[in-house]
Order: sequence, then structure tokens, then C-alpha cells
Amino acid sequence: MTEMHYNNKKINPIHHDMTQRRILLIAPEGQVGWHLHRCAQTLGKMLIVGRSYSQGMYAQLDLSNADAIRRIMHETKPDIILNAAAYTAVDKAEQEAELAQAINGTAPGILAEEAKKLNALLVHYSTDYVFNGQHHQPYTESDPVQPLGVYGTTKLSGEQAIQAVGGHYLTLRTAWVYDLRGKNFLLTIQRLAKERDELCIVADQHGSPVWSRLIAEATVQILSQLYSPLLQRDRLDVSGIYHLTCAGQTTWYEFAKAIVAHQQKQPRILPITTADYPTPAKRPAYSVLSNAKLQKTFGIQLPSWDGALELCLKQQN
Ligand SMILES: NC(=O)c1ccc[n+]([C@@H]2O[C@H](COP(=O)([O-])OP(=O)(O)OC[C@H]3O[C@@H](n4cnc5c(N)ncnc54)[C@H](OP(=O)(O)O)[C@@H]3O)[C@@H](O)[C@H]2O)c1
Repeated sequence: MTEMHYNNKKINPIHHDMTQRRILLIAPEGQVGWHLHRCAQTLGKMLIVGRSYSQGMYAQLDLSNADAIRRIMHETKPDIILNAAAYTAVDKAEQEAELAQAINGTAPGILAEEAKKLNALLVHYSTDYVFNGQHHQPYTESDPVQPLGVYGTTKLSGEQAIQAVGGHYLTLRTAWVYDLRGKNFLLTIQRLAKERDELCIVADQHGSPVWSRLIAEATVQILSQLYSPLLQRDRLDVSGIYHLTCAGQTTWYEFAKAIVAHQQKQPRILPITTADYPTPAKRPAYSVLSNAKLQKTFGIQLPSWDGALELCLKQQN
């Protein structure tokens, strides 16, 4: 192995030579995964695994199969694992707790164990739904957690399993994710706006919507710092949970109004309460996340939620 130096410091080529670095991306078809597939290419050689094997484009991996996870990790020996997979159907999870726990709770722990054996970094995503929503100011990473539903409970279990392993990891908690593809609030409102003249939208849940592309780009920026030979950052030092959402806050009602403002046909948007729109899973009334730790550690700050929405919608037109 050739010895490499920068500023008279010896640097380890395994960690810094991006031509050798292997990046395992799980779930390239999800909202975040789709963008990671495109923007993480600059970091090294991408190895892609997904649940659906339909086009035969990726190796298959079902995260509910613990042996399969171990096998893929053993075969691919990645330096970085990007786990963009999750059981994300918040209401359905109430009926499928076991499956949600396998994917969101157990699988991340197995990935963390295998990553530790390889001295690899696990990048995982979690959710604002680990909080109970009783705050009135943005939640920090050290605030107590108390999920209200199965989805949040299983995601919390995944966070804790990764922490318990104690390897190199970044758990990025995000929230209210949307994109121009997939299943999300933006596309639902756009569809309903074409079909109806009036939409009733919940106005007493507060959060920060994020375009999934910004999550992927921020992830790559963080990784670029961690693997930069110039910065020489210690990956164990910065391991931990980080909040990653757009700046500012809103409600589903205001978010819907902002979406519809960009539509040709603009139905009336009426505010309703959570009690008016009962769902199987209880959701936090307030789940705004403070991004101060991300900004302090990596100097990264996402734009305001409404600015990000505009950027996203420009891509659609
Ligand atoms: N969406 C949100 O509003 C939101 C909010 C907060 C946090 N998050 C977190 O952000 C991350 C990314 O979410 P997202 O919005 O990009 O999710 P998404 O669009 O629902 O994509 C999830 C991906 O996970 C894959 N997946 C599900 N079960 C799997 C399994 N058993 N094995 C392998 N892959 C499986 C899905 O594959 P298929 O295509 O085969 O189903 C899909 O590609 C997740 O950790 C999520 O919990 C999301």
C-alpha cells in the first residue's frame, strides 16, 4: 500500500482514495435513496441494493431478512453504508408492527454490527416522530423521546440499536419529506387540487417539510467533510444523532396553501383540527427540529421550507 501525505501528515489511502471507497446504498428507489443514488457518485464506487428486483438493476436485499443483510455486508465489504430504506407507512404500521420493527428497528442494528466489523460508517435516517409533540420550541438531539405510534417506536428502536453497537454512525433525523416522485404530501395535494374545489387540511400539527434532494445533498456534504484528506476529521468523534430539516416551521395547512399557490387550478384550503381528521396513528402536534448541532458540527444549514419548496417546484415546470 502506498503511503500518502498531506501537509506533512500521513493519511490512510483506504479512507481517502475515493476510487477504492465502496459505498453500499440501500433503497435506491425511495425518496431520499433516489437522490443519494445520483449525488453520492462523487464519493466512491456505488454498490446498490433494493428490495424490488423488478428491473434486475440492483442486487436484491430485503431488510426484514437478517441473514440476507449479513450476507450482503460480507460480500460487498463497504466503507460507507447509506441506509435509505424504511417502513414509512405511518398509519399502516399500526397493523404491521412486527414487519415495521424488523425493517426499522432490528435491521439498522444488524447493519451497525456488520459495519463495526468492517470499520465502516453507517449513515441512517430517522424521524421527528420519535417525539411526543408536547414542546413549543424546536427539539434538540438531547431532548427526551416518546413516540406516539408504532412507526415512531420502531424508528426509535433502530436509533437505539445503532447507538448500542457503538461503531461509526450518523443517524440523521428528518421530517415531512417530499419529492416529485414517490408517495408524499406534495404530490397528494397536487392531485387533489386538480380533482376538488375545496380541501380541508390539518392546521394544528407543526413541523418543517424537507425536499428529499436536500437531505441527500447534505448527506454527501457531510461525508465529503468526513473523508476529506484536507480536513482529517475523526469519524468516531462526530458519530451521533443529528437533526436535518429545512429551516423555519409550518403546518400541513400552510404547506398545502404554499403548494396550491403554484398550481393553475387553486382550490380553497380550509383549516381543520387533528380531531376532525382521525388517523390510525397518533402524530405529534409539534415536531419542529433544531438544526443547531448540524450547523455547529458541519457548518451545514438547509434553506427555509418555503424556499426549498419553490426550488423543488421549479424542477417540475
Ligand atoms: N417520508 C417522510 O416523510 C419521512 C419523515 C421522517 C423521516 N423519514 C425517514 O427518512 C428515510 C427515507 O425515507 P423516504 O421518505 O425516502 O422513504 P420512502 O420514499 O418511503 O422509501 C423507503 C424505501 O425503503 C424501501 N424498503 C422498504 N422496506 C424494505 C425492505 N424490507 N427491504 C429493503 N428496502 C425496503 C422501499 O422499497 P420499496 O420501493 O420496495 O417499497 C423504499 O424504496 C427513512 O428512514 C424514513 O424513516 C421519512
